[in-house]
Amino acid sequence: MSEMVYELSAVSRTYRTGSALIEAVKSVDLAIDGPGLVVIQGRSGSGKSTLLQMMGGLDRPDSGEIRFQGNDLARLREGKLTQLRRLAFGFVFQAFNLIPTLSAAENVEAAAAPTGGGSSERRRLIARLLDEVGLTSRARHLPSRLSGGEQQRVAIARALVNNPSVLLADEPTGNLDSRTSAEIISLLSRLSAERDLTVVVVTHDPAVAAQATRRLAMEDGHLAEIPFTSPLAGEVGFPSPLAGEGDPAA
Ligand SMILES: Nc1ncnc2c1ncn2[C@@H]1O[C@H](COP(=O)(O)OP(=O)(O)OP(=O)(O)O)[C@@H](O)[C@H]1O
Ligand SMILES: [Mg+2]
Repeated sequence: MSEMVYELSAVSRTYRTGSALIEAVKSVDLAIDGPGLVVIQGRSGSGKSTLLQMMGGLDRPDSGEIRFQGNDLARLREGKLTQLRRLAFGFVFQAFNLIPTLSAAENVEAAAAPTGGGSSERRRLIARLLDEVGLTSRARHLPSRLSGGEQQRVAIARALVNNPSVLLADEPTGNLDSRTSAEIISLLSRLSAERDLTVVVVTHDPAVAAQATRRLAMEDGHLAEIPFTSPLAGEVGFPSPLAGEGDPAA
């Protein structure tokens, strides 16, 4: 069996709306061989979310393979895919998506898969997760009483509750100011190191890239590596290796 976390080969996804075809992801190859913070940059409409959703088993490619832990997500039957979505992948979104009537701790608990463990064991797990994301003192607060950064920390704790091997984050700092964004990315980077977690972050924000262990650029459905040419590369904008290709019209 492969030791890779992910092996994508020739992954393509075309949306059909009426008679129009939109090739959102075009023959993407990608190998991720271990834990780290992988950042995928690229402008709006370049296919970043489409790719991330396929990597998390939320959508399937039209062609190509997505190998994950010995499975091809493109061809896995629905029941097994659902199980992976619950247990192997954690998802974090721009809009936090917390349940407004539940406290921080209850939001985390609501996502926990049944383990057969007792309720005190479960309470200890939730407390440990909230501590891990720096929110112990906010455990009983409703989302409306939390800042955006704090809400995103709850969402990250929730994403970790079933101890996934991959965290997939789509614009996790899109609703946050630059300082809070940097704190959230630092947290993801620390979690990646401490938990041997593969974290894939999709972002528009070039500052996020400064903390990445690996950077990729999505442009018009194609994915390419961004080499670390200088230590400041992440802070000076978006060094596109594919410059010159057509701009998306939308
Ligand atoms: N469900 C859908 N049906 C039809 N077209 C879609 C659908 N989802 C995305 N698209 C199209 O596919 C292309 C890629 O979209 P995608 O959402 O993956 O881009 P993105 O890089 O995540 O953009 P953004 O940075 O704005 O979130 C776009 O042209 C978009 O309009
Ligand atoms: Mg998107």
